Amino acid sequence: MSEINWEQLRSSAVAAMKTAYAPYSKFPVGVAALVSDGRIVSGCNVENASYGLGLCAECGLVSNLMATGGGRLVAILCVDGQGNYLAPCGRCRQLLFEHGGSHALLMTDDGPQTMATMLPWAFGPDDLDRNER
Ligand code: THU
Repeated sequence: MSEINWEQLRSSAVAAMKTAYAPYSKFPVGVAALVSDGRIVSGCNVENASYGLGLCAECGLVSNLMATGGGRLVAILCVDGQGNYLAPCGRCRQLLFEHGGSHALLMTDDGPQTMATMLPWAFGPDDLDRNER
């Protein structure tokens, strides 16, 4: 895996943010990620008249990841409507952790942080493996 091109990820996240459907919050979000095979996946938030059913941008990204061949998330960058870095909500950190694990990097105002930092003591697939299913 070559160097992470954060500027390319930022452009992809901003492009995705511009496709957001956020008429209720008026808070568009875009997210983009580098996948282990080198491709880039992205997503935007999609709200609903039934407010609680709104989908965060990261949900769309994970769906895009699986629909285009799966793989692992290596580097993730999320932006708000101004293109500023956005720290994903707690639920979305869990979604990202599932598909990137503790070593995946997430861009923040303090530079790239590991998912282990962003979601400490995470519950994940390994925890299920420790019990009989
Ligand atoms: N939102 C995301 O898409 N991702 C996050 O990590 C934080 C919040 C969306 C949900 C809602 O459509 C809007 O931002 C305002 O909360």
